[in-house]
Amino acid sequence: MAAADKPPIADRPEGRPLHVAVVMDGNGRWAKQRSLPRPLGHRAGVEALRRTVSAAPKLGIGWLTVFGFSTENWSRPAAEVAELMALPKRYFETDLDRLNREGVRVRVIGRREGLSRELVRLIDDAQARTANNTAFHLDIAFNYGGQADIAEAARRFAAEVAAGRRKPEDLDEAMFAGLLATAGSPPPDLIVRPSGEQRLSNFLLWEAAYAELVFQDVLWPDYGEEHLRAALTEFAARDRRYGAIVADDVLAAG
Ligand code: FPP
Repeated sequence: MAAADKPPIADRPEGRPLHVAVVMDGNGRWAKQRSLPRPLGHRAGVEALRRTVSAAPKLGIGWLTVFGFSTENWSRPAAEVAELMALPKRYFETDLDRLNREGVRVRVIGRREGLSRELVRLIDDAQARTANNTAFHLDIAFNYGGQADIAEAARRFAAEVAAGRRKPEDLDEAMFAGLLATAGSPPPDLIVRPSGEQRLSNFLLWEAAYAELVFQDVLWPDYGEEHLRAALTEFAARDRRYGAIVADDVLAAG
């Protein structure tokens, strides 16, 4: 493999493929810069998603979680909400067969309330068709909010306690993680946000506890392999300690 093709995290000791999560931001500004209507920015955003999903496995990524629609996005004008609601259908129509052939498991995390019956059916179908795939995991957060997901998990656990099936002291971090929409995926190693904004915006709040954050100065519709590679290079240079200290410092501490 030529040096330029080598995944920047190829020598990572932990072995497990990476989980990268992306806040796909900047579609509106991208469209505005070109004097285009915002929906065209979102459509170009779907193409960036396609490029990113296809680049990710080559770079040592095994899980990719993308933020497609937040619980707060309902406050946008109705026409834009309608356009955003149409994106999963557009994406599944063009990409699902290929994703399935390539062994990608597709999951849509987020509330089903508020989505049209047709969209829920499309989501259920995409998930069912790809449920046994293991080559790569694509989670699309859609009608998702980190706080709402945590509140929902707390409600579900409280209901179990009220029904006498659980005791409050049964709850620990691992059990709580299993109640979240992201259950079954490892926590993200890296959260990337393009577009120059530097915040999480209610994305994966529980799961982000030890994620590295990389903010990139590119608008999402322009995103592609080179940007993902650059984010991974920055990630690889980080020193992840999970609250501990590095081995040399343990020795120095005596
Ligand atoms: C934020 O950009 C982006 C969104 C609200 C939508 C993101 C969705 C996609 C990129 C496509 C998703 C595809 C699927 C399959 C769900 P913005 O509109 O807030 O941009 P701005 O900050 O520049 O206005």
